[in-house]
Amino acid sequence: MCGIVGYIGKQGAVGALIKGLRKLEYRGYDSAGVAVLDGGAMLVTKTPGKVAALSERVRAEWPAELLASARAGIAHTRWATHGLPTQSNAHPHLDETGRIALVHNGIIENYRPLRARLEAKGHHFHSETDTEVLAHLVGEFFSGDLFQAVCSALHQVEGTFGIAVFSSLEPDRIIAARRGSPIVVGMGDGETIVASDASVIVAHTHRVIFLDDNDVAVVKADSVDVRDLDNVPVNRAVAELGMDVESAEKGGYEHFMLKEIHEQPEALGNAIRGRLDFALGSAVLSGMNTSPRELAELKRVIMVGCGTSLHAGLVGEYAFEELAGVNAEVEQAAEFRYRNPILGSRDFVIAISQSGETADTLAAVREAHQKGAFVMSLCNVVGSTIARETGRGVYLHAGPEISVASTKAFTSQVAVLLMMALKLGRGRRLSREHGLELARAIESIPELVTRVLVQDDRIRALAAGCVRDEHAYFIGRGPLYPAALEGALKLKEISYIHAEGYHAAELKHGPIALLSKGTPVIALACDIPGKDKTLGNVEECRARGARIIGVVSEGDGEAAEHMDECLEIPRTHPLVTAIPAAVALQLFSYHVARLRGCEIDQPRNLAKSVTVE
Ligand code: G6P
Repeated sequence: MCGIVGYIGKQGAVGALIKGLRKLEYRGYDSAGVAVLDGGAMLVTKTPGKVAALSERVRAEWPAELLASARAGIAHTRWATHGLPTQSNAHPHLDETGRIALVHNGIIENYRPLRARLEAKGHHFHSETDTEVLAHLVGEFFSGDLFQAVCSALHQVEGTFGIAVFSSLEPDRIIAARRGSPIVVGMGDGETIVASDASVIVAHTHRVIFLDDNDVAVVKADSVDVRDLDNVPVNRAVAELGMDVESAEKGGYEHFMLKEIHEQPEALGNAIRGRLDFALGSAVLSGMNTSPRELAELKRVIMVGCGTSLHAGLVGEYAFEELAGVNAEVEQAAEFRYRNPILGSRDFVIAISQSGETADTLAAVREAHQKGAFVMSLCNVVGSTIARETGRGVYLHAGPEISVASTKAFTSQVAVLLMMALKLGRGRRLSREHGLELARAIESIPELVTRVLVQDDRIRALAAGCVRDEHAYFIGRGPLYPAALEGALKLKEISYIHAEGYHAAELKHGPIALLSKGTPVIALACDIPGKDKTLGNVEECRARGARIIGVVSEGDGEAAEHMDECLEIPRTHPLVTAIPAAVALQLFSYHVARLRGCEIDQPRNLAKSVTVE
């Protein structure tokens, strides 16, 4: 999704802005732009395509002296919503006078009537975007005070925004504001950075302020003043960023995705460490902030999320029902928010979101709060909006995930959901003995994952056989059913092969019609309850000529016999099996995509964090 960088301070602003944009590339975008002042005049360069193209144009077209001397500016990566990814639609956008430049993440919902009103007043627009309307609106309100002009304009807009505004009229400041789209301000030594994502800031400083909705900040090189839209000062705490520069770099790996796949033993170790209680056969998750009574009286668990996070919830569903004997449901957040769900105080709503910023998941959280449910979150990004709004929950501690395709966040989400279910189960009907059995299996997850990762060569060989396929089907049962869905999602996201995940039994209710000689079917047939039935479904596929790639348990020769090719993963507790299986499929997708020459970390049309509906 779109990304914002603003810089004001002692360094060369052009270099800092371009460097900042590069850090945002992982979010997915299709055009980029930058604005600085050249001798008092606003200079804007924008281009469709990559930040590298923008950087080349800037270096070719801007005076060398300016590249070194500019001390402030704003920049943007755009993921098209209103209008094609063209040069004119790219940000920054200017007001009618060309003296105010603005970059924006989010959507201004009432931009059409606002644009009509401004056009009637003689404004001319050069793009199809909602953002240009906001830039003009700020210009329309400007009468000597940029902060006031921004506040007045924002009072009139409906929708979501994270913005940075820069003007030749007040070159010593950037005005930043947010409603529903994150903005973080980093306070360095003689420099201040505004960004939509903390990964931009770590290269400069670890001291940050996260803006809240309706905050407007006056950002100068040596100060940050946060106010509300009515000019009343608000006090925002200065937080210390946990991430280091290294974790935002590739560290020798060819792609962030590969690095993050290989980081999983460590990431999972961090998610699990200190959270298992072997004396009680339970889990310690103090962030859930629940009393034994609340656990005992709980009626239902509803997990909401999108994409990969939704799939993690589907694994969790098995765990909550089996361990805690509680009715568990998983719902697509966009559906949940508009469905008028029936909720009460004994319903636990768990919002699952790596980024903690996904618009639909955030709206689902608000809906659940509104209806009096007990809401908690499972986020990776500390201080993210969903984490802050839920106020209780569990952080993954998986470290920054840069690749658009989620890997370590998924497996960490599953591990944490298993621990949540374990804790709930022990507060309800689960025996210490069974709790202990699962706790031991959870403790072994990092090692299980390592044993999959060492099979990289074997997995690459399996992937090589699928490089020319245009369709693939993934099947599984029980907790391996969501693992199949996730496997298919990974493959389609990064290799652009049409891939679908199905419950193994469901294939014959329609999709089997698509199988023909050689169609790859990836069958998750590990040794968990239901395996024999999956093997029966595998035979149905073979009878139609499909080529079966099996993922089976170590030493399960019988299962292997049903497959054309096969990968063995370590045996473990059935609820845990989805994790090593998912890791094997991550590597498989990675190698297929790499061999097909795809752009793995930033797949076409996708965004890391979807902050629009
Ligand atoms: C986007 C990403 C997915 C991610 C989903 C939910 O679609 O491309 O990888 O699973 O958003 O993101 P969240 O941050 O809420 O987990």
